[in-house]
Amino acid sequence: MSRATRVLVTGAGGQVGVDLMDVLAGATPLGAATNFQPDGRVVTSDEFEVLGLTHHELDITDRDAVMRSVATARPDVIVHLAAYTAVDRAEEESARCFAVNSAGTESLSLAAHHHGAHLIALSTDYVFDGNKGAGYVEDDVTNPLNVYGASKRAGELLCSSGDTIVRTSWVMGVRGKNVVHVVADRAMSGASVRFVNDQTGTVTVAADLARALVTLVRERPGGLWNVANSGITTWFDVADFVGTTLGRGDDFAMAIATSELDPAPLATRPIRSDLVTAKFAHQWTALPEWRDGVARLVHDRALRPSGGAS
Ligand SMILES: NC(=O)c1ccc[n+]([C@@H]2O[C@H](COP(=O)([O-])OP(=O)(O)OC[C@H]3O[C@@H](n4cnc5c(N)ncnc54)[C@H](OP(=O)(O)O)[C@@H]3O)[C@@H](O)[C@H]2O)c1
Repeated sequence: MSRATRVLVTGAGGQVGVDLMDVLAGATPLGAATNFQPDGRVVTSDEFEVLGLTHHELDITDRDAVMRSVATARPDVIVHLAAYTAVDRAEEESARCFAVNSAGTESLSLAAHHHGAHLIALSTDYVFDGNKGAGYVEDDVTNPLNVYGASKRAGELLCSSGDTIVRTSWVMGVRGKNVVHVVADRAMSGASVRFVNDQTGTVTVAADLARALVTLVRERPGGLWNVANSGITTWFDVADFVGTTLGRGDDFAMAIATSELDPAPLATRPIRSDLVTAKFAHQWTALPEWRDGVARLVHDRALRPSGGAS
């Protein structure tokens, strides 16, 4: 019998991390599509031997600690999810953001290379400026508009050529802090919401992304891969869909322009940064359509153990 694949996960306590830990254990996290696995192979509970490290257990800005963790774990694959993700705060904490997203990612890549592990590192649609006017494919020219995007792009460039880099976007999980919870809470309280309708992107349900990451752990393809749910949308459309799903009418969500946000956000975001996922879909299977995923989130958030805030 072949031995289990050893997987080290950084950022295991984050939104994607908690779902990935479940999926690697053969479980179905809240928000997941039953039986969906892009390569069609069910995950068994003994396929992976997983070590998930939270921020508390490993600070990736400590290069020696990263080297020690990888030396001890001896993983076959590292899924690197740890990141500084506060997009607006990053504008005022540039050094810290770069220390985590750029230097931290370089440390993981060096440690993986040194110990013969394959690195899968997460990146973002915010490496693009949004001016293409169409969806972004993996080879498109990058030009980040904000500190977070620049730090993630620098992290990509600090990876080794054989590493796998996964660009994803607008991530939402049952157990993360995200727009679905904010909107659903307001929908259920009888309030209304205003959301921008001039930023277009691709939603990614954390549990669906976790399933895609398992496929990449198995296949270790190397190179750039866009991973997101199918279909493009705007923040307003997401809010409107959540409201409709919860039985609210046309008066629930109001569409506004980014220029109407008050106060204006610190970070500039691309107007159109949807990711074209044809490369992943052609190799395996497309992730479900975004409304299917968001409907699962709206439904399953009521099943969280606390039943309340994430
Ligand atoms: N969320 C999105 O919309 C989105 C979009 C595109 C790409 N991505 C990328 O997808 C990946 C996963 O994102 P996510 O949504 O799961 O983000 P998340 O919920 O913010 O999780 C990131 C995790 O990294 C941890 N972390 C922060 N600084 C660290 C450090 N110095 N050392 C170790 N751990 C540290 C955080 O811990 P603390 O909370 O304790 O600091 C958190 O648990 C990231 O690479 C992110 O850049 C996310």
